[in-house]
Amino acid sequence: MRTSRSSLRVRLTALLTGAAMTGAALTGALAGTAHAADAPLRDLAAAKGKVMGTAVTGSKLTGTYGEIAAREFNALTPGNAMKWGSVEPTRGTFDWAEADQIVDFAEASGQQVRGHTLVWHSQNPSWLTNGTWTPAQLSGLMNDHIALEVGRYKGRLATWDVVNEPFNEDGTYRQTLWYNGLGADYIAQALTAARAADPAAKLYINDYNVEGVNAKSTALYNLVKSLKERGVPIDGVGLQAHLILGQVPSTLQQNIQRFADLGVDVAITELDIRMQLPSDSTKLTRQAADYKAVMAACVAVARCVGVTVWGFTDSDSWIPSTFPGQGAATPYDENYAPKPAYAAIAEALGGTTTPPTGACTATYSVSSQWNTGFTGQVRIACSGAALSSWKVGWTFGAGQQVTQAWNATCAQTGSAVSCSNASYNGTVPDGGSVTFGFNGSWSGSNPVPVVTLG
Ligand code: G3I
Repeated sequence: MRTSRSSLRVRLTALLTGAAMTGAALTGALAGTAHAADAPLRDLAAAKGKVMGTAVTGSKLTGTYGEIAAREFNALTPGNAMKWGSVEPTRGTFDWAEADQIVDFAEASGQQVRGHTLVWHSQNPSWLTNGTWTPAQLSGLMNDHIALEVGRYKGRLATWDVVNEPFNEDGTYRQTLWYNGLGADYIAQALTAARAADPAAKLYINDYNVEGVNAKSTALYNLVKSLKERGVPIDGVGLQAHLILGQVPSTLQQNIQRFADLGVDVAITELDIRMQLPSDSTKLTRQAADYKAVMAACVAVARCVGVTVWGFTDSDSWIPSTFPGQGAATPYDENYAPKPAYAAIAEALGGTTTPPTGACTATYSVSSQWNTGFTGQVRIACSGAALSSWKVGWTFGAGQQVTQAWNATCAQTGSAVSCSNASYNGTVPDGGSVTFGFNGSWSGSNPVPVVTLG
């Protein structure tokens, strides 16, 4: 295999008007409005001095998933890989493979990393949760864990979620291994240990249901205020933002501002907006407005450093397994087609895209390559739109030649290739996709062409 992850896929987005979503008018309308995607979210965010991040799963950082993660985001958060249960499943036996992989990927992609998470009540190893510990032992375990994990990535991670989810909904402290053993001071201890292990990393407390002004966020506010007054190292507050469709708190910006006024940074750390399935265009439009409102609140406050989505594709979201019947919570659907929420994020970051009522995309990839030949495929996926026939074209840049195609009729004239649907796969329904494949020859190099759908 000589293929490289980053060079394999090129995506063009064809924006469809609502009127063009059905029937015979479609082909012409699609051809007339097809255009290259706007600037990636990470560029739009960077221009505003903001972070646009995503949680990722290390094993998926290849193919289209890896390409979108690298292209669209300037920060990554390991969704699970850095949790205590992941890195030290057996006491004294460590597994850093996925965490290292994500950090390496981020560095290769010019992205920062948000470490997640050091001290939490969940996803701890069973040897830790099942043990009986004196306060001194517990404190030693916590401090050693922080020193080891933060120390391992010293200088490489921008940020750590040091303490995760310390509060109950009513603003009292959650009764956890840490609170029960060490009292509320475990939070100050953990922050102090993290600062010692990597003085350059920004240290955060992260929680959910603290996006608006309420009892829980006020408890967090009071904690941060008192930590600041005591000189405990605290740099920021993470508002997770696992939100429900139509329920962005009206006090979000005000809440961000009040934390900023304490002299700490604020980050939206785990944004997703779930809905009852199935999704439809009304819900997706509402979701786009909700995403935009969250982004706008962050953009409006200088000390809001940015927004991280908790998975960028519906195929990599925790929602469906935790909330049966709900989902579609992220900006891309399961087939990696950007949803209206994607355009809404871009718009809130100053992009020029108007939210599409639907989109179909064509994605070219090389699935294998050998000394003289290669196998390629093109996937056409639709979300909020549909096709009754399709035609895909590209121009090879290095003398490649299509030798055989399947699931499409392809012709090549010079370097120009044109492929149209077979009799049985012209229909691409809303939420569906069609893939066709081909073999080709190459020599010297095999650069990925720009594909048009029209
Ligand atoms: O790795 C095992 C796999 O070996 C096994 O086959 C499979 C069977 O269930 O489980 C896999 O582990 C799952 C793990 O995610 C990795 O996929 C766990 O069951 C599952 O519980 C775990 O869920 C994670 C959840 O935290 C745990 O609370 C989610 O992926 C992760 O997105 C989620 O993230 C949290 C943040 O850390 C903190 N804020 C809330 C957020 C959502 O719960």
